[in-house]
Amino acid sequence: MYEDKARWNEKYLNKPMPDEVSEIVKKNLHLARKGRALDIACGMGRNTHYLAHHGFEIDAVDLSDFALSKVKAMDAIHKIEADLDNYEFQCDAYDLIVKINYLDRNMFPKIIKALKKGGLFIYETFVETATGEGYHNPTNPDFHLKIEELLQAFEALEIISYQEKDAVNLRGEKVRIASFVARKK
Ligand SMILES: C[S@@+](CC[C@H](N)C(=O)[O-])C[C@H]1O[C@@H](n2cnc3c(N)ncnc32)[C@H](O)[C@@H]1O
Repeated sequence: MYEDKARWNEKYLNKPMPDEVSEIVKKNLHLARKGRALDIACGMGRNTHYLAHHGFEIDAVDLSDFALSKVKAMDAIHKIEADLDNYEFQCDAYDLIVKINYLDRNMFPKIIKALKKGGLFIYETFVETATGEGYHNPTNPDFHLKIEELLQAFEALEIISYQEKDAVNLRGEKVRIASFVARKK
């Protein structure tokens, strides 16, 4: 964990992440009931801040103390410095869970449990490409989703939208991303 934390702190120092709110969050926030939200691997808080300004109370969890130091101190934001590999979410606790550009498959069932009934899950991260040609495709399968993997992993939820599309990563490389919105039944 210490290595990961140091690595992420260094990444943030060398190349700060964009601070624009994720499009998928902006576009789908109106589908969520106001209340408690969880921003998983919140980074420097671009989405956390947006949720706070829209009336949510947010648990913002990340490993990087540097990134968390950039998350605004607001009553509505609870910053939690933790390693998500060993972090247990509260069950039936959240009206909204947001997870952007982060993949940990062990967490999928925990997310379903952490949502309240009717709670919304907004997720976007990298997905493999069919051929790999012309795209940046990480060689480590832990770092990207399989094609349509989320549809199966979250079949217990009511799926509102799912899309795989082209995008550009921070290094300007062409990548594929999966955008997923679902509600707990
Ligand atoms: C690509 S950034 C995405 C940040 C944010 N979601 C956003 O879209 O701006 C990935 C984040 O995951 C965090 N992270 C990586 N491994 C983690 C772990 N095991 N526990 C908690 N956070 C972790 C990093 O510190 C980093 O902030």
